[in-house]
Amino acid sequence: MATINERTGFDLDEVARLLTTTKQVRKRLDLERRVPNEEILECIDLANHAPMGGNLERNKWMIIDDQSSKDHIARRFADVGRPYLQVNSEARGDDRSQRVIDSATFLVDHLADVPALVLALRLDRPEGGSPGQAAGFYGSVLPGVWSFQMAARARGIGSAWTTFHLEHEAEIAELLGIPPTVSQVCLLPVAYYTGDTFTPAPRRPAADVTYLNRWKQPVE
Ligand SMILES: Cc1cc2nc3c(=O)[nH]c(=O)nc-3n(C[C@H](O)[C@H](O)[C@H](O)COP(=O)(O)O)c2cc1C
Repeated sequence: MATINERTGFDLDEVARLLTTTKQVRKRLDLERRVPNEEILECIDLANHAPMGGNLERNKWMIIDDQSSKDHIARRFADVGRPYLQVNSEARGDDRSQRVIDSATFLVDHLADVPALVLALRLDRPEGGSPGQAAGFYGSVLPGVWSFQMAARARGIGSAWTTFHLEHEAEIAELLGIPPTVSQVCLLPVAYYTGDTFTPAPRRPAADVTYLNRWKQPVE
């Protein structure tokens, strides 16, 4: 039975399902089926409602489906991702971490085969500044990335938050004609997902991670 919130009309079970089962999808990306740009644009329309400092619309997006560009990005993604994942695989023994590493390794191996790569961008650079300014910079662009992922998930489209290629940001900017004044913040491989059995990951309860009024003071 739906749990409709009386004040808002939202079905809270469905909202919770979207929030807890929007996963980073890698192995279940359908590499054979193209995602129409119209569907990606719908997700971007929704993502652009995320909060932005000063309400300035300084964010841009790029859909990359050109094979030679995807090949180039995939090579740079692997240059960084493969050794990183190798080191982490040796360092961390538990099953959950290993599953993420296996999944991320699959993506390193198949990035060029994913139908579309969606790049989230911001129209300036984070250079210098205080921690508060850095928070404002990334805080104005990253909420939209998460909204994009949820909007996509609701449409049967999977995506994965990735940053490996950013070690080669300048080279990829040149490849794609992105001016040096623009920042790339996240690359989302995007494809329909196969099977819909996503389940919430275990997370510590809110009461364990929330304090009331003073550091370490529990919320009763
Ligand atoms: C800032 C950030 C950077 C990330 N970079 C990568 C990446 O380069 N490659 C990758 O496969 N996953 C990357 N991830 C995904 C994390 O590994 C992911 O959150 C983790 O797998 C949890 O998965 P879940 O959301 O499916 O529970 C990144 C996530 C964040 C938030």
